[in-house]
Amino acid sequence: MRPGALPSDGAPDATLALLREGYRFIPDRCMRLGTDAFRTRLMGRKAVCLTGGRGIRLLYGADGLTRRGAMPPTVLRLLQDKGSVQQLDGAAHRHRKALFMAVLVEEDAAERLAEAFGRVWTARLCDEGEANVLAEASDTLAQVACEWAGFDQSISGDAALRKALVEMSARAGSVGPGTMAALLRRRRVERQLARALPGLPEGCPARRVATFEEDGAPLATKTAVVEILNLLRPIVAVGRYIAFLARTLAVEPEWQQTLSCADRVDIEQFCEEVRRQSPFFPMVGAMTTRKVSHEGLDLPSGQWVLADLWGTLQSQEAFPLPNQFHPGRQLSWRHPNEDFVPQGGGDAATTHRCPGERVTLALMTAAVRILCGRLSWDLPEQNLDVALNRMPAAPESGVLLSGIRRLDALS
Ligand code: HEM
Repeated sequence: MRPGALPSDGAPDATLALLREGYRFIPDRCMRLGTDAFRTRLMGRKAVCLTGGRGIRLLYGADGLTRRGAMPPTVLRLLQDKGSVQQLDGAAHRHRKALFMAVLVEEDAAERLAEAFGRVWTARLCDEGEANVLAEASDTLAQVACEWAGFDQSISGDAALRKALVEMSARAGSVGPGTMAALLRRRRVERQLARALPGLPEGCPARRVATFEEDGAPLATKTAVVEILNLLRPIVAVGRYIAFLARTLAVEPEWQQTLSCADRVDIEQFCEEVRRQSPFFPMVGAMTTRKVSHEGLDLPSGQWVLADLWGTLQSQEAFPLPNQFHPGRQLSWRHPNEDFVPQGGGDAATTHRCPGERVTLALMTAAVRILCGRLSWDLPEQNLDVALNRMPAAPESGVLLSGIRRLDALS
């Protein structure tokens, strides 16, 4: 079916509707039109939007697509940026992706980051006695990520740099003066990191990126810094999942008791269900580089396509009673499938699927262990609503905790 034959949402331009409806934009239109794919126009460009497995298989399996030109420039510059692994295709992509897989999946990154985060965050929460989980976890992750990558105190101890790392993800979905300021702060961070590259210790993750060779030469400094930020920024963004899991512990407090003595597998299943329900990465985009025929869709060259991640995670068919929080679904990043796609689909080594899921789960598991096993805390009056028209979303209050004490200090 050519795009012209697909149902249209009928809007001359649906950009304002996307901003108004946020995460619900694609799934609600698909529901209304009784389809998994429809035509629309966003920011003046024709787009085909898909929800569910067909779209995931297209963006994480079909040939003839690229991520280049598929993201608004401010989103691209704040997140992956030009020249990054996400902007590469084919053999060049697989070669660069092998670096990320080696640094993040095959080695002990997850264990080291989780241990450091557990130690530093516990100490900070106890010292302060109260916390905004989103803000505190993100800032702690920024410190821990910089140290893990190999940077010294002049980088990891720089509060403005840590704040800039938090803002790169937090501001990516908005437009306006705040986003422009975040872009300027990103440029400053890039210059700071570039200056620090020569002093990095042998073998540390950031140095491995800086010395990674392509076509017989190390990456250009600009590209190396972009890729180092592609390690640091998303580790910091895990703070958002930690805020969502703290929200679940707050609204369904019985989980605190259940998880206080749970094993890794049970904690991971809780975290996976948090990832399924949490509105984080709404959709991913790609452009066709030639005519693409895919499961009944005939897309011309130069077609913009958007695959729905969050709506796919809420599918009735794949996840019965999707609004219910139910870790018994036994989801796991270890068993990729086309429905459970919080960080993309397909095979991480060969597609654009996120290489950071192992690290994400390890950090979320560490946070559960702290919040359920190591500390006791109270929940002050607050607004825990999650607005689905803010991308990326978060619990309104950030999840405030008070009266934080070590559990062993209570006995
Ligand atoms: C915070 C939770 C995270 C979310 C929601 C997330 C989401 C995603 C998504 C949806 C993609 C696919 C983009 C596409 O298909 O074009 C992706 C790719 C990527 N992610 Fe993550 N991610 C997270 C954590 C991480 C972590 C912890 C790291 C590294 C430390 C990481 C590094 C990357 C990289 C380098 C890519 C590009 C992969 C490629 O193009 O082949 N992410 N992420």
